[in-house]
Amino acid sequence: MCTCGRKPFHPERRAAWSEHFFAWAWSRATTPLEKSYGRIKDKLFADLSGEVVEIGPGAGINFRHFPAGVHVRGVEPNPFMHPYLKAAAEESGLTLSLDGGHAEEIHLPDASVDAVVSTLVLCSVYQPELALSEIHRVLKPGGKFYFIEHVAATPGSLMRRAQDFLAPAWRKIGDGCNPNRDTASLLRAAGFGAVSIEERHIKNPFIIVAPHILGTATK
Ligand SMILES: C[S@@+](CC[C@H](N)C(=O)[O-])C[C@H]1O[C@@H](n2cnc3c(N)ncnc32)[C@H](O)[C@@H]1O
Repeated sequence: MCTCGRKPFHPERRAAWSEHFFAWAWSRATTPLEKSYGRIKDKLFADLSGEVVEIGPGAGINFRHFPAGVHVRGVEPNPFMHPYLKAAAEESGLTLSLDGGHAEEIHLPDASVDAVVSTLVLCSVYQPELALSEIHRVLKPGGKFYFIEHVAATPGSLMRRAQDFLAPAWRKIGDGCNPNRDTASLLRAAGFGAVSIEERHIKNPFIIVAPHILGTATK
């Protein structure tokens, strides 16, 4: 694995009680959210194959949308999510290996995986630029990063002002989630060969979690 002179990544661990609570709460919230995200995921993930890394897979809700035969490596730092992930993989008939690390430091060699998946995760990672450079590093040439993320609203809009104002409190209650992160710009600057981004308004119970972007970035 090439660390290429990079500073080591030392995440602050979230409090165990908060990780435990978030795993419990998220495992219950994800199934109802499928009404909004399910069909989009079926289409987006239809051509996944081979070795797939999913960063922040949470309770494993995406596994049901992955084609048969993929091997998933879940990079999930919250250990209380791991039992849900194992159960979801078994239910979907996927093979899973679990890594309790972070997207900012993926424990895999350069150019070793066919695809990386992220849904609603880049809002929460500590260092999104570093996470994206790790995603780019582990992908084989021609490999794709598939994403669905909620992002910052247009600068100056009422929604953006609400996101900026509420962000500190939202981070605390939302397990580190930043409602005002400009993930689309970060993706475009991450060194991928081709980036395809579609902006969508996806129905969501959390009003400041909008708009969304979805698409792929190819190495
Ligand atoms: C909102 S949940 C989304 C879970 C899942 N992707 C989904 O769509 O249901 C965010 C997930 O990202 C994980 N996460 C937070 N920081 C992370 C990091 N630095 N690297 C990898 N995963 C992270 C959290 O533990 C959590 O499981």
